[in-house]
Amino acid sequence: MQSNAFIDRYARVFGRPQATLLQFAGLSEGEVRAKGAEVEGAGGRRWLDFGSFGMHLLGHRHDAILAAAHKSIDEMGLSTKILGNCAATGFVENLISRLPWNMDSVILGNTGCEAVESALKLAMIATGRRLIVSLENGYHGKSLAIASLGGGHLTEKLPPLIECRKIRAEDYDGLDRLLQSEEIAAVIVEPIQGEGGILAIPPPFLRHIGDRCHATGTMLILDEIQTGIGRTGRPWAGEISDFAPDIVVFGKVLGGGLVPISATAFRKKQVGSGAMDPIVHSSSFAGGTFATTVATAALETALAPNFLDRVTQLGDKALSSLQAVATSASFPAQARGAGLMIGLEVDSAERAGLIVMEAAKRGLLLTFCLTAPTVVRIYPPGVVSDEQLDQGLETITEALGATS
Ligand SMILES: Cc1ncc(COP(=O)(O)O)c(C=O)c1O
Repeated sequence: MQSNAFIDRYARVFGRPQATLLQFAGLSEGEVRAKGAEVEGAGGRRWLDFGSFGMHLLGHRHDAILAAAHKSIDEMGLSTKILGNCAATGFVENLISRLPWNMDSVILGNTGCEAVESALKLAMIATGRRLIVSLENGYHGKSLAIASLGGGHLTEKLPPLIECRKIRAEDYDGLDRLLQSEEIAAVIVEPIQGEGGILAIPPPFLRHIGDRCHATGTMLILDEIQTGIGRTGRPWAGEISDFAPDIVVFGKVLGGGLVPISATAFRKKQVGSGAMDPIVHSSSFAGGTFATTVATAALETALAPNFLDRVTQLGDKALSSLQAVATSASFPAQARGAGLMIGLEVDSAERAGLIVMEAAKRGLLLTFCLTAPTVVRIYPPGVVSDEQLDQGLETITEALGATS
């Protein structure tokens, strides 16, 4: 396939600005296959994938994921939605047995957004309240309703469908005032804000949110969609002592890099039996055999102690190397993160964009944070080899140098 012909076709269906960006970054070949940390274009070019918006902690087409997928394809794909599904039941049993928060029930969905919507519905039904509190720089997805919880340009273009109050992280007084003066259904928080710039919420503030929620009958929703299932080298980033969320949402890595799947975990007795009613949430595709078989394999692979150790080891190496690169850069830069969730903040969105493009030209895929465009996201998969990690870090150093 002629790469420029592909870009023209891409532009016709997805828009010229996006296509021009791809072309500018030397990405005119469409992707066609991938394995592990590598992606291959239609013309045979290869890239290391340290981007992928957090989905590919297990890399592309991990052997354990493929084995589970092949087995499922030979047996059943979706579900009847009439009979109870064996794979979905096994998956939910597996997930809740691993959670540190004593949860007993799960609603399954397809996307992270859907999981957040389910969580909000549960909280609103359980409390009889409507207002939601989210954190500035938070990101929870882009459905029409969920967009109201985040920030950025999209919120300015849409009517707020959910009434939401936003507070700054560590605004203890602001949170206390809000929870005292208004009837809040839920506070939603990411343990480390991903799209907001890889900003960790300090554990004392998380604990304070938990205490105040419990004192005021407000539900605490923990969004582990980006941080959960091993991304930070720990099973769950919000696993800190004396902190008990009421509802937790998962997505991304749960799909094993192969399927869309999300989950909303909670305690039955807290939300009431009405919460189990399919009227609260259901979806044609959610909870099918294929997706839940793959997700079970994803849990087992990503949460295996040796895999988590490897994520920590790779993440520590990457972070210290990037901190050194940031210190010696000719412009202000800072690297931060946990495990394989790393952000490199630079002095302008333009420079961050250039770094992403210069890296792409040299064969490394990166992205920047959606609501914090000065932060380049560096999310290598946990299956990356030592040589591939070194190569990726070297490329980032060169890309920074090219923007000086
Ligand atoms: C923390 C968080 N919550 C929710 C979402 C939405 O997930 P999805 O894109 O699967 O709808 C994202 C996606 O980036 C996310 O990072």
